[in-house]
Amino acid sequence: MTNRPQVLRTVTALRRAMAPYRKAGQSKSGFGIALVPTMGALHAGHLKLVAEAKKRARRVVVSIFVNPTQFAPTEDFGSYPRTFETDMKALTALKVDAVWAPTAAEMYPEGFATRVAPEGAALAGLEDKFRPHFFGGVATVVTKLFTQVSPDFAMFGQKDYQQLRVVTQMAKDLDLPLKVIGIPTVREKDGLALSSRNVYLSDAERAVAPTLHRVLKASAQRIKRGEPIEMVMEEGASDIRHAGFALDYLEARHALSLKPIASVKDGPIRLLVAAKIGKTRLIDNLGV
Ligand code: PAJ
Repeated sequence: MTNRPQVLRTVTALRRAMAPYRKAGQSKSGFGIALVPTMGALHAGHLKLVAEAKKRARRVVVSIFVNPTQFAPTEDFGSYPRTFETDMKALTALKVDAVWAPTAAEMYPEGFATRVAPEGAALAGLEDKFRPHFFGGVATVVTKLFTQVSPDFAMFGQKDYQQLRVVTQMAKDLDLPLKVIGIPTVREKDGLALSSRNVYLSDAERAVAPTLHRVLKASAQRIKRGEPIEMVMEEGASDIRHAGFALDYLEARHALSLKPIASVKDGPIRLLVAAKIGKTRLIDNLGV
């Protein structure tokens, strides 16, 4: 029989389960505990994070929590896909040790009154401009996940690039004793970044969705060849709109600070895009 990961639903049960993991993690055959924070509806992108976690740490904990505080009232919290049993099968196959799946009442008990308010990359004018509540919600829940599990490593996808920058800085600023590790984006064959929200796409929308990655790739090549960034971004934006998207942003930013950048000479560049096709909002990014 394959061993199902132990499912923990309360902070008390989690703490009790983590104590022996911490001891096992100090043995010679591997180091520490790795945490993979997710909202479930797991796909191959999440599972890549888990596989990388397995390589680094003796024990792997996956959290599954659809965090209400990072959704605006107008967003898809209610309809966000929840596929716990399927997720458990995939995590069992990958030999994950534990799944931390608290209820909202366990995470935010009556009287909860503290929030983490990230600045810097969290105010870059990208996702934060369209989802002003988002990084406060993410930073607060991720801080709690970190203090609840006390991992040595935490795995995050580059798919959510601004989130990765915010969480990396936050762990540093708050002296949290763990290493945040960014994992490259897993894509479909046609370039579309895997996302739990891709299930919302109609066949017609799915067919044009890879435009985002195609434009990012072409733009990165043009910028590398020395074409002016502003012109490349304008033409990319126009291609995305012509494909049928409502574009939120297509921007070239400094890869670490996420500040606007005028030239390849000013540092590593990351291209970031967010656009809606029908009712579905997609994001993607690529290094130059
Ligand atoms: P979620 O969207 O479930 O993503 C969980 C993790 O999987 C994130 O670090 C995300 O960047 C990564 N991921 C998603 N798609 C990926 C892909 N195609 N390739 C590689 N990694 C991918 O991001 C969140 O949840 C939440 O904001 C969370 C951090 C859990 C806080 O609630």
